[in-house]
Amino acid sequence: MHKQRLYIGGEWIEGASWKTLYSPYSGEAIAEIAVAEEKQVEAAIASAEEAYAVTRRMPAHERSAILNKVVDLLHHRLEEAAVLIAREAAKPMKAARAEVKRTIETYRFAAEEARRIQGESLPMDAAPGGEGRVAYTMREPVGVVGAITPFNFPMNLVAHKLGPALAAGNTVVLKPAGQTPLSAYFIAELFEEAGLPKGALNVVSGSGKTIGDILVTDERVKHITFTGSPGVGKGIRAKAGLKGVTLELGSNSAVIVDEEINNLEAAAERIAQGSFAYQGQVCISVQRIYVHESAASSFIELLREKTEALNAGDPLDSSTDVSALISEEDTSRVLEWIREAVSEGAELITGGEVSQRVLAPTIMTNVPHSAKLSSQEVFGPVVVVHEVSSIDEAIEKVNDSVYGLQAGIYTNNIHHALKAADLLEVGGVIINDIPTFRLDHMPYGGVKQSGYGREGIKYAVEAMTELKLVVMNRNL
Ligand code: SIN
Repeated sequence: MHKQRLYIGGEWIEGASWKTLYSPYSGEAIAEIAVAEEKQVEAAIASAEEAYAVTRRMPAHERSAILNKVVDLLHHRLEEAAVLIAREAAKPMKAARAEVKRTIETYRFAAEEARRIQGESLPMDAAPGGEGRVAYTMREPVGVVGAITPFNFPMNLVAHKLGPALAAGNTVVLKPAGQTPLSAYFIAELFEEAGLPKGALNVVSGSGKTIGDILVTDERVKHITFTGSPGVGKGIRAKAGLKGVTLELGSNSAVIVDEEINNLEAAAERIAQGSFAYQGQVCISVQRIYVHESAASSFIELLREKTEALNAGDPLDSSTDVSALISEEDTSRVLEWIREAVSEGAELITGGEVSQRVLAPTIMTNVPHSAKLSSQEVFGPVVVVHEVSSIDEAIEKVNDSVYGLQAGIYTNNIHHALKAADLLEVGGVIINDIPTFRLDHMPYGGVKQSGYGREGIKYAVEAMTELKLVVMNRNL
């Protein structure tokens, strides 16, 4: 069986112990993964700090060339990368291939961004005392970045951390998700082949708590970029001291289907995709639908039809749309939440049962607002449909959440679209599409418990660089 070693200081190193990685779908053992002990995490930070002396002086065109080389290498190994994601994350091949294509785009954006990191000149004579002075700003890398990534996009969310960090001249210690380390190590191999200086990227798998705590509290690490749960995110913010932090946390994203929309059937089809792609394990999955009462019954029927047309099964089969959740505990948790909602009066339109580890895509109505299925992040294949009588009610209900990542609205009414854009309390409003829409250069991040800071290469580069001011006195 494949034995996956740690990647520290440009060397592939055995861990203190090994942990078997199992397929979430078939339960078969996939690989033995090295578990890092504390001193290996310390060694990874030391390597990253040492390599920073090299990367901070590396010209932008060289950083860009390395990232472009990774783009080429990944392009040639696209299918292999997709199979890796499908195996360790149970992500259906269609979605896994799409993720690898997005990862290529993300590194391409990073390669481009590396060449345009710049400051600005300041009009010093705008203030008395500024005459005869010239000033400009530049952006400098912060140093060692600690990256902690989730299982749901094991390649592209790694890219959203490595891409901007390395584009800016930083170095990285990456802790990938426990269930999906192979995709991260695969990318480390590509960076090695692309000629990244030794120690500029370190990958350490093992206990999330141990590694996370070391990265968050070690003074040599200057910025933490994390995607995961709000609970862990808050803990990071509390312990990070003066470090920069970027936190991409969860959501119970909503879409509004207004009274007048162009094509109800197309919207229903797209909403089914947004609800059930990768089994709903996406931070911007559609979880809540607020549909105008005049369209509700036809919409629910169309949504049921589109949902029941999805193929459940083996992630390695190219015709599969939905497969197993990341763990059996998650399947039990989501089933429990469904049962709880039903006991509180909710109605099951379709789904709700498990076959061969796959929880069928589930649509529910009459779910009380307080039920977990509506108020918490499900991260599973369940969508709840609520009827509303006006755009104001829909906006109010979308906002009645502790989360605020992205929201969608389908409407033909420009006033309603602009009102929603104005009033929805989220990081991104997507008009005439699902909240699940993301391109990798968009600013991406949330308000409330959905996070702090923005990803999207340009925005992440800002967070991972410091602004330095230079003022020159010509009067002397
Ligand atoms: C996420 O789950 O936060 C990422 C969603 C995406 O990149 O599409």
